[in-house]
Amino acid sequence: MESITQTVEEPRTKQSRRFVQVVAGTAALAGLLFGFDTGVISGAVLFIKGAFALTPLAEEVLVSAALVGAVFGATLSGRFTDRLGRKRQILITAAIFTAGSIICAVAGSLPVLVVGRLAIGFAIGVASYTAPLYISEMAPPNLRGALVTLNQLAITSGILLAYVIDAVFAPSNGWRLMFAFGALPAIVLGLGIAALPESPRWLLLHRHKEEAIKVFTRIRGTQNVMPEVNDILEHAEPGHGKFSDLLSPVVLPVLICGIALAVIQQITGINTVIYYAPTIFQAAGFHSNEAAIIATAGVGLVNVLMTVVSIPLIDKVGRRPLLLISLTGMGVSLAALGIGFAIGGAALQWIGVLSLAVYIASFAIGLGPVFWLLISEIFPLNVRGQAASIATMANWLSNFIVSLTFLSLLNALGSVWTFVLYAALCGVGVWFCLRFVPETKGVPLEAIERDLRAGRPLRKLGAG
Ligand code: BGC
Repeated sequence: MESITQTVEEPRTKQSRRFVQVVAGTAALAGLLFGFDTGVISGAVLFIKGAFALTPLAEEVLVSAALVGAVFGATLSGRFTDRLGRKRQILITAAIFTAGSIICAVAGSLPVLVVGRLAIGFAIGVASYTAPLYISEMAPPNLRGALVTLNQLAITSGILLAYVIDAVFAPSNGWRLMFAFGALPAIVLGLGIAALPESPRWLLLHRHKEEAIKVFTRIRGTQNVMPEVNDILEHAEPGHGKFSDLLSPVVLPVLICGIALAVIQQITGINTVIYYAPTIFQAAGFHSNEAAIIATAGVGLVNVLMTVVSIPLIDKVGRRPLLLISLTGMGVSLAALGIGFAIGGAALQWIGVLSLAVYIASFAIGLGPVFWLLISEIFPLNVRGQAASIATMANWLSNFIVSLTFLSLLNALGSVWTFVLYAALCGVGVWFCLRFVPETKGVPLEAIERDLRAGRPLRKLGAG
């Protein structure tokens, strides 16, 4: 590993450092759209219900359309990310985001609205892994965690922005404008990404060596890029891999690890809190509308702030410690929430507020960013898009199932056991991370791939 580590040039000039930041910041607009478009529906649906006289079933279909679209987007796009390239894929996604937002804004009927939301969801599914992957392949190893986490910061900011936009347009029943607003970041993403280069690793995979050298020279701020280029050529199998390669003994274990992390990120309940914070608050004894708004905004704000905190830590403390701290904090706060519901009374209100705050803060500092980061790092280059797309599909599918079953679970098990169940699942997550998740901090992607091809156990990938 040492030889590989030494061959990677860190950005030497201020200009190249700034350029890598611009690349990451632009690609992260995809994260902003991910967050905005998943968040915007909660406010918009209140008005659409009246406008189109929705039945409860129609409302559920509308609200879940984007999640269904995301599952399809993630599933169907992996091969294209490896064939067409990261940049082109993000460009197409930006066009779909724009079209979907406009369709929703002008929709004259429920079916048209659902089509628009399905399209937006499709784009979310594609963008959610392509943007981190693109950033990861551009970033120098020692900044990769922070730069990819900008995407998670954009997701959390997008969720918060959606609440703000919903609040701004709510007094005028402006649900169409709520959707239309989403077209703005989509257009900026499209224009921005069009002006940026393709991932140099993808270029090398397809043997566009001259172009790749140009990009590396620009992002590393030095002419001395041949050692890194040669390392990539040496460690990557040329051309995009086939679907059957995903099942090979080299890729399968790491693919299962990515899928497991995807499922863990969702079954530990993050979106039940994001989508149902007001419901949980009401159950804990806060009944006013203001309390519901404060709950939603508070959850959104803590999520953003703690993601900011994670950025400088992720390349210093490392991925594993953050994951372990995160899942432990989430588990303890969920158990406390369960106990709070068991005690009831006035104590429940404050236990409720405190445990939700600790829960969100814990998620934001680890499991939120680290999942998307790891699936942009651990897969071999020739199947990276396909493997990341499958892990992403698992993430959106689990999200869909958890969101769909949360209220029934509350009804069937009651609040106490529902939250205790989620707490136990955090415990399973801790065990899985301790046992199987590698530490990729500061390790070049090619060193991870070399370890993978050498048959090292998952936990030891990148350990030198
Ligand atoms: C998750 C989403 C979640 C968001 C909240 C992301 O990492 O994948 O499901 O809504 O974080 O911040």
